[in-house]
Amino acid sequence: MFSVKLLAALATVATAASAAAIRAADEVFSPTITAPHGGDQWTVGSVQTITWDTSSIPPANQNQSGLILLGYVEDGQTDEHLDVEHPLASNFPITAGAANVTVPKVPTRDDYVVVLFGDSGNTSPKFTISQ
Ligand SMILES: *[C@@H]1O[C@H](CO)[C@@H](O)[C@H](O)[C@H]1NC(C)=O
Ligand SMILES: *[C@@H]1O[C@H](CO)[C@@H](O)[C@H](O)[C@H]1NC(C)=O
Repeated sequence: MFSVKLLAALATVATAASAAAIRAADEVFSPTITAPHGGDQWTVGSVQTITWDTSSIPPANQNQSGLILLGYVEDGQTDEHLDVEHPLASNFPITAGAANVTVPKVPTRDDYVVVLFGDSGNTSPKFTISQ
């Protein structure tokens, strides 16, 4: 998935932390997130594994590092409220297909999403984080 908002968020993070490699993209790829699933329940402070499909990463992107942000999407809205200040994970190889993250101390909601950035962002289904 692709949106101007996501690119803006990515640019902000890259400027702030050089966490993501922005490429002049001949090939834009955005790996599909395979976990979390919709409706999953995470507890603050627990360690969760985020996974994604690595089967179609183009050769030019094999060395790319990834970035995972937490956000939430309210019903009927498209704003992902991405927390660009506190990435869940960054600078991991996009080819890894998995990253373990510690669930931050955030308010209980049932509309959290994670967004994985390769070239552009791909958003997970909504899941719950509770105390
Ligand atoms: C990826 O990294 C390896 C080892 O550093 C290098 O040999 C290869 O050329 C790189 N591939 C790309 C597409 O940058
Ligand atoms: C995530 O944690 C599990 C359990 O400790 C471990 O088996 C796995 O290798 C870890 N994965 C990554 C990508 O660090």
